[in-house]
Amino acid sequence: MTELNEIALKIISDGKGILAADESNGTMTKRLEAVGMDSTPENRLEFRETLFSSESMKECIGGVILYDETINQITSSGKSIPDLIYSYGAIPGIKVDTGAKNLANSLEEKITEGLDGLRERLKKYYKLGARFTKWRGVFSISNKYPSKQAINSNAHSLARYSALAQENKMVPIVEPEVLMDGDHSAEDCLSITSEVIKKCFDELILHKVDLSGIILKPNMILSGNQSNHKISNDEVSKKTIQCLKSSVPNEVPGIAFLSGGQSEIEATENLNLINKNNNTNFIMTYSYGRALQQGALKVWSDSNKDTKATQKIFNHRAKMCTLASLGNWSKEVENK
Ligand code: G3H
Repeated sequence: MTELNEIALKIISDGKGILAADESNGTMTKRLEAVGMDSTPENRLEFRETLFSSESMKECIGGVILYDETINQITSSGKSIPDLIYSYGAIPGIKVDTGAKNLANSLEEKITEGLDGLRERLKKYYKLGARFTKWRGVFSISNKYPSKQAINSNAHSLARYSALAQENKMVPIVEPEVLMDGDHSAEDCLSITSEVIKKCFDELILHKVDLSGIILKPNMILSGNQSNHKISNDEVSKKTIQCLKSSVPNEVPGIAFLSGGQSEIEATENLNLINKNNNTNFIMTYSYGRALQQGALKVWSDSNKDTKATQKIFNHRAKMCTLASLGNWSKEVENK
């Protein structure tokens, strides 16, 4: 077992999942303002510290993805954020892309940037304690898109990023997100997601990335959020497995889904069914942002930053997601 494979497995084994707390300041500002809170560095730290020091960090969360501001912040007890995360037995990670910009000559599509100077930034993050990294490529579905140009250029960037992360002894999370925005069918989502993931692996292999030392972070197969043809949760799980079975090489240790705008319950229920129906060797777990934090953020704001009340909600959500990673979630345990 290589060191990278060992880190990947430590993050996602035994029902553990990833807390994606790597919202950029822009995104975090939208999230905080939506619940009536000011987006100051202090507030961003306070909310995140509340989550990172919750009891469920020990049994449920294998890794936390941080943003540049957060990995450099010091907690109320004087510890660094990475040290706080390590003290709960989880591993700190870091988002290293610098965001999605308009793709030249296909301006309605996006290309994720951040390769310039990445080697140096990775060395800095390793010293701060990070042992895994994240880069997100984003694709939208419409009659015209995604173009081959967007698929190829984002897959190429994901591969170059992954090779650099591994060179610096960190596990890359490879995140090609096919957005749920639009009125497309689940069949379209299935064929496009499969094409995107296959292209990513072609590039990862070309760039000699050790596939046993990555974690894939894909979307689930859903119909568009404006589609009139919703499919059942069971169909979501079967199509998602079908997609991954046909496009992910066996060496990959695990898959940690993004929630992508699904509600907390929907993301939990779908993950549970994916694990119940899982006929692959891949570990299938979560790397949720909104689907782990939404309820906790609301209570944090409503209760005027009550730590215990916020942690109670977060602990429940993390526990439910971990049960879903083991295929052991049910509506009864959710509502207990
Ligand atoms: O890049 C996306 C985040 O890490 C996951 O966020 O679960 O809210 O889609 P989400």
